[in-house]
Amino acid sequence: MKKITIIAAAAFILAACCSQSKYDGPVYLNPNAPVEERVEDALARMTMEEKVGMTTAQSKFSSRGVPRLGIPEVWHTDGPHGIRPEVLWDEWDQAGWTNDSCTAFPALVNLAATWDKEMSLLYGRSIGEEARYRKKDILLGPGINICRTPLNGRNFEYMGEDPFLAGQMVVPYVKGVQENGVAACVKHYAVNNQEFQRTQSNSVLDDRTLYEIYLPAFKAAVVEGGAWAIMGSYNLYNGQFNCHNKKLLCDILKGEWGFDGVVVSDWGGCRVSEEAILNGLDIEMGTWTNGLRGAASDSYRNYHMADPYLKGLREGKYTTKELDDKVRRILRVIFRTSMRPEPNYGRFVCPEHYQAARDIAAAGVVLLKNENNTLPLDVPQGGKIVLVGENAVKKLVVGGGSSNLKTAYEVNPLEGLQAAYEGVAEVVWERGYVGDVGTSYNLVDTGQDLSDDRSPKQLIAAAVAAAKDADYVIFIGGLNKSKHQDNESTDRFDTFLPYDQQDVIEALAEVAEKLVVVNISGSPVSMPWADKADAIVQGWYGGTESGNALADVLTGKVNPSGRLPFSIPFKYEDGPIKTERQYPGIKEEGDQFWQTYYDEGVYVGYRWYDSKGVPVQFPFGHGLSYSTFEYSDAKVSKASMKADGSVKVSVDIKNTGSCDGAEVVQLYIADPVASVDRPSKELKGFEKIWLKAGEKKTVTFEVAADALSFYDMETSGWKAEAGEFQALIGSSSGDIRTSVSFELK
Ligand code: BGC
Repeated sequence: MKKITIIAAAAFILAACCSQSKYDGPVYLNPNAPVEERVEDALARMTMEEKVGMTTAQSKFSSRGVPRLGIPEVWHTDGPHGIRPEVLWDEWDQAGWTNDSCTAFPALVNLAATWDKEMSLLYGRSIGEEARYRKKDILLGPGINICRTPLNGRNFEYMGEDPFLAGQMVVPYVKGVQENGVAACVKHYAVNNQEFQRTQSNSVLDDRTLYEIYLPAFKAAVVEGGAWAIMGSYNLYNGQFNCHNKKLLCDILKGEWGFDGVVVSDWGGCRVSEEAILNGLDIEMGTWTNGLRGAASDSYRNYHMADPYLKGLREGKYTTKELDDKVRRILRVIFRTSMRPEPNYGRFVCPEHYQAARDIAAAGVVLLKNENNTLPLDVPQGGKIVLVGENAVKKLVVGGGSSNLKTAYEVNPLEGLQAAYEGVAEVVWERGYVGDVGTSYNLVDTGQDLSDDRSPKQLIAAAVAAAKDADYVIFIGGLNKSKHQDNESTDRFDTFLPYDQQDVIEALAEVAEKLVVVNISGSPVSMPWADKADAIVQGWYGGTESGNALADVLTGKVNPSGRLPFSIPFKYEDGPIKTERQYPGIKEEGDQFWQTYYDEGVYVGYRWYDSKGVPVQFPFGHGLSYSTFEYSDAKVSKASMKADGSVKVSVDIKNTGSCDGAEVVQLYIADPVASVDRPSKELKGFEKIWLKAGEKKTVTFEVAADALSFYDMETSGWKAEAGEFQALIGSSSGDIRTSVSFELK
């Protein structure tokens, strides 16, 4: 026995010596050396020109490496819903590859609507694998700007109106992506909440609003998620462009939060050389160049951080202090991604990713209204379902801006429902209205022909005729990612359904036996027609498996468990934005920029509606199930807590319905007496729990002082004031079922 141990030990020492002596090359190339050692070693070998070279783009989606040292270039890709098709070296147009059709995952607002951190991890892992397979190092996503106005064209790419929800949902996404050796580039940092004049508008807000509403999700992504990259936004804050904003990048991100990754500019977001160099930008991307054809030489050399930087360094205007910091960060990303120790090769367009896309899409579908249990559909053998509306057939993966994708396939709702009822019922489609007949974006074409010469009257008449003898009429409309309808660089003009869809819904309501309305959008849509529908479903841009996922919920194969990540007001005017200076902002004569004043402060979304007692059509957090849930026995672990302690708040949840399902248990904290004006309640915990019919479980939340605090502008820090707090537990911000109180000593 002793002999065996000695032999084993000797073999181990020999193996260890051999493995140590096996590698005698430069440290930076040694995959097993610690990242920081590799960084310092590589840095010491680089010339100033090579260092500066790394800080700018060399093509639309790549930035330079160091060819002499075998350090690869960095490949960036959109993001955030799938891996963007390859574009030409210096053009937005398609490169025409035939192997770059990806899995389109659901839009991030759909992910947020799952209120399910597991789904976020699944999403991050799956998209990370696709990025890795496509040899991308930085994924330009996720987006987590707060839905401040329902009109923002990019709400669909973000995670709703609440900083806590977005913060909880972003962390697993980031971790899942990065497990694959791909950096998640969280965007667009920060206070980038509208597309109108996005490169010319200055967001004006106080520190409390900044820290309480607009920064927490970014902080979570960086501090808890450990994001390796972040993208500066186009707009200005404090009168300075965000891609080189000293306060946001140097003081908060790299200072307070200790971020050690790279700051990438939004494409063309770098505007001033000196600020970019000194204020924390690490990689400048997408600055307008006149391309490889028009420029006298390589026009990327004209970038703010290319030749102008070198010139300044040579003239002694800058020292290498900032340069070395930028290069260290870029090298760190390279050693974490393309030169990481254990390369994996990812996977692409595989059944697992399609299934993930379908599961996430379905888990985010929100059942808003379900009168007389209209849903799930109960279609008799030989029955008839009539679908009406353009979004039942329009392929919605294409469009929207930089999140545009070329997908391997896309199942639309008509196809999804036809497959679900094959051999059971007839599923037919009528158009009802003509919205956007466009089928291509940046030369990605769906190949659909959506042209239709009929007048609105003829379209409605045809839909009504078909609806008359149907068992169910399902209107599937909403927005569609075309200009001003959930689209990058354009905001919406109002919150109503475009293309006179309301007329179609109202006409159908007159004749339909049972009318279900499915609104597909990425932003809140006003529903003045809500009373006319028996059931209303909020669907999203669900990606490749969109139609199957929607069918899963409508048929009852999946019990709906999505919850609204934003409030749906009766009308836009009910919301916190009342003046032009709040939105879209104002430009005084002689001013260079638009000023957008966040006068509503922390009263964003439900914080506004709840605090001011303004009724909404559907509250934040709302969503029905085919089951029902009972809340009971709310408890707090102790009556009082100290500032450095915590209390546990628990509640029993029982599935009182007849089918298995999930409830999203939400915890809001209220501070009834405070020295500052505080929202009447704020989300500080949520848990999605699965319960079999009749099953009961206890959900427990730990509440510490950070959940009780507000940002105190006098001390520039977080403050929890002693006194009574209420823990409000419920099924939405508008449906609090039970509460307990405790005291902070
Ligand atoms: C968008 C970014 C995107 C980048 C690259 C910009 O216009 O704002 O979100 O990642 O383009 O496509």
